[in-house]
Amino acid sequence: RMASVAGLAVAYLLGSTPTGYLAGKVLKGIDIREHGSRSTGATNVLRTLGKGPALTVLLVDVLKGVAAIVFARWLYALPFLTPPAGLDLQSLVPWAVCLAGLAVLLGHGRSIWLNFTGGKSAATGLGVLLALSWPIGLGAGAVFCAVLAVSRIVSLSSMLAALTAIVLVCAMDQPLPYRLLVIAGGLYVIARHRANIRRLLNGREPRPGQNSPEAK
Ligand code: G3P
Repeated sequence: RMASVAGLAVAYLLGSTPTGYLAGKVLKGIDIREHGSRSTGATNVLRTLGKGPALTVLLVDVLKGVAAIVFARWLYALPFLTPPAGLDLQSLVPWAVCLAGLAVLLGHGRSIWLNFTGGKSAATGLGVLLALSWPIGLGAGAVFCAVLAVSRIVSLSSMLAALTAIVLVCAMDQPLPYRLLVIAGGLYVIARHRANIRRLLNGREPRPGQNSPEAK
């Protein structure tokens, strides 16, 4: 039980690490949540601070997702853990991974350091997927790149990538906790794009290099 709580807390705190916010503060002395889409994610960093900072934030945010999953697996491999009677530790690992994955996504979207604001958890979600099952991560990443190349709209690419991950995890032979993680996580990422969906429907969603969206 201690291990589960530790895994959850570490994942939430990892997700909470306010990469995009720090980039705005350190590089320009601004609160990125007052600019562009108000998101602390790499796309808004690109809009507000430029390519270098955006690439760095993207990389760190992906790594947060990877680290949360790797940490949960490592924790459950510790030799001194004793499982509850009648349970085999190995069977608990996928559930611990599922909770850690959800916690890191929630931490990124609702950071404890940012009054529970944050990003849309797309990059961190990609990290989770890559650590969970790299073919699913690559599949989602490929759809992201393809949609971006055609539409030049990042939010649409992120949402279709999340949907792809959900379809893939259901179609492939995956443990139930992994399926639950990818379905709930994917729906969370899509739900975080509510303002983007509204702008897409109004034809007002900006492409990279265009003016900032009216923030909500
Ligand atoms: O991953 C976030 C991206 O899909 C949209 O970001 O800043 O355009 O709302 P943004």
